[in-house]
Amino acid sequence: MKSLPFLLAILGTATAADFKKDIQPIFEKNCYECHSEKTGKKKAGYVFDDLETLKLDINPKGAIVPGSPAESHLFIVISDANHEAHMPPKESLTDSQIEKVREWITEGASLVKDAPKLKPVAGLAKKDLPPIMTWTNFEGKKIKAGFVRLNGDSVILRMPANAQEIAYPMNKLDAASQQQARDSAQ
Ligand code: HEC
Repeated sequence: MKSLPFLLAILGTATAADFKKDIQPIFEKNCYECHSEKTGKKKAGYVFDDLETLKLDINPKGAIVPGSPAESHLFIVISDANHEAHMPPKESLTDSQIEKVREWITEGASLVKDAPKLKPVAGLAKKDLPPIMTWTNFEGKKIKAGFVRLNGDSVILRMPANAQEIAYPMNKLDAASQQQARDSAQ
């Protein structure tokens, strides 16, 4: 039987996002096609396979702002399915992939292993950032947001990019999303 400290150690590290292990594979599979130093496709000037170049975009004025997904243009275009420059252009990353990128940026967007973790600059605790889920409204428009609670005839959602809460009328969601809201409230 595994000892309790051992299990706690696993829990303690389970949420940390490591660039090489967790983030690079997401970029490789979904972004290199159009953003790569190797193939020379550098749409909008971004490349994700050359870390020296990628590093230049990671700073308080860059597309990736360490500690702050809300101010990171890269995070906004992957998490807002309705953004005019939504990435990748034709599909979306999965909710758990977006979640991993959010974690990585929140923790400081380091490219090296075991870098010290940042405290989120916005002061948001983990519990304030519910897991990202996909919601579909009755027009078929998709929204990526975390579930907060039900409130009367609305569901309170938290937008992943700016952590803002919105009240979305339940009857504007499709049946499956209404069910998802009720299940999440259990
Ligand atoms: C099929 C090609 C393609 C793929 C795949 C792709 N991009 Fe892009 N990307 C583009 C093009 C074209 C632009 C510039 C035009 C635009 O903004 O839509 C762009 C622009 C961007 C921008 C700047 C957005 C802006 O506001 O101008 C970012 C950031 C970005 N991509 C990140 C990503 C990330 C992260 C991925 C993977 C998750 C990705 N892209 C996958 C083609 C692609």
